[in-house]
Formats: sequence, C-alpha cells, structure tokens
Amino acid sequence: MSKTLVAFFSRTGEQYGVGEITEGNTKKLAEVIAKKTGGDLFEIKVVEDNYPNKYTPLIQFAKKEKQENARPAIVGSVDNIEEYDNIFVGYPNWWADMPMPVYTFLEKHNLLNKNIYKFCTHEGSGGVHRDDFALFGHIAQNDSIETEKKVDEWLKGLGF
Ligand SMILES: Cc1cc2nc3c(=O)[nH]c(=O)nc-3n(C[C@H](O)[C@H](O)[C@H](O)COP(=O)(O)O)c2cc1C
Repeated sequence: MSKTLVAFFSRTGEQYGVGEITEGNTKKLAEVIAKKTGGDLFEIKVVEDNYPNKYTPLIQFAKKEKQENARPAIVGSVDNIEEYDNIFVGYPNWWADMPMPVYTFLEKHNLLNKNIYKFCTHEGSGGVHRDDFALFGHIAQNDSIETEKKVDEWLKGLGF
C-alpha cells in the first residue's frame, strides 16, 4: 500500500474574485485531493504570519517576498516524510510563481525518489510548472461538484 501526503499553502481573508473567505481556495482543493487519495494533509504555515488580510496589500507583500527570493520559516515539518511515496504539493499562483513558503517546504524535506504532483489554484494564469494541475480559485471555493470532477479526471490520469 503506497502512502500519500497532501501538503499545501493557502490563505484566508480577502481573495481575488471570492471576497472574504474563511477557508482558502487551495485548502479546499487539497481536502478534496486528500479525501480521494486517502492522503494525509499538511498545511504549510509560516512562523511569523505577516501576510495582510486584504488583497491589495497582500499582493504588494508577496511581490516583495518574491523579489527577495525569501525563504520564510515554516511551522514544523513532516517528520515521517520517508514513509510517503506520493507527495502532492498545493499552492495558489502568486505572481506567476509559488508562494515563497512552498519553496521553504520543498527545501526542508528530502524528496528524493518521491512521486511529486503539484496542484494550483489561480485566477487566470494557470499552474506555474508544466504538468501542474490548475483550477480556478473561485471554482475550488464555490463549486464542489466541478472541483470533484476535475480532480477525478486528474487523479485518473495519474493512475490513482
Ligand atoms: C499575492 C497574490 C498574487 C497572485 N498572483 C496571481 C497570478 O499571477 N495569476 C493568477 O492567475 N492569480 C493570481 N492570484 C490569485 C490567486 O492565485 C487565487 O486567488 C488563489 O485561488 C488563492 O488561493 P488561496 O485562497 O488558497 O490562497 C494572486 C493572488 C495573490 C494573493
């Protein structure tokens, strides 16, 4: 039996096209993927959470973090990472890139010989890397039927 981890970064507060949300778009998508793969969830959270809750200041904050190629410290790590064969990594598209804490996560773990599958929510740009699964954030947030359908298609294609 292979073991699956679903790690993700996601924000609440004001997000593009969905208003104020209490559960992030990527988080919702991650939960669907975890449910369908029997995977364990790991939320990538920063130690010092200075991300603004409003969209416009968040955009500026994230732009600076990307320009600096920052590696914000994240809370904890997956101590039993060696037990997992499949690792899903979810992120919101931020400035045509992954949020910097996702890089912190990737660099903090030994991912050698793992199957890595990346997924993303966005509002028009799609995924950052070829083969990343991409879903509109407002679909992940508001349309669970469409989300499940798209996830099913993707997982089927991956052989799950
Ligand atoms: C800082 C920031 C930068 C963004 N940059 C892009 C972008 O370049 N392209 C895009 O399609 N969406 C962009 N978005 C929209 C988010 O990818 C989208 O709203 C996503 O679903 C948010 O997910 P979350 O609720 O899990 O954080 C950006 C949003 C933020 C906050």
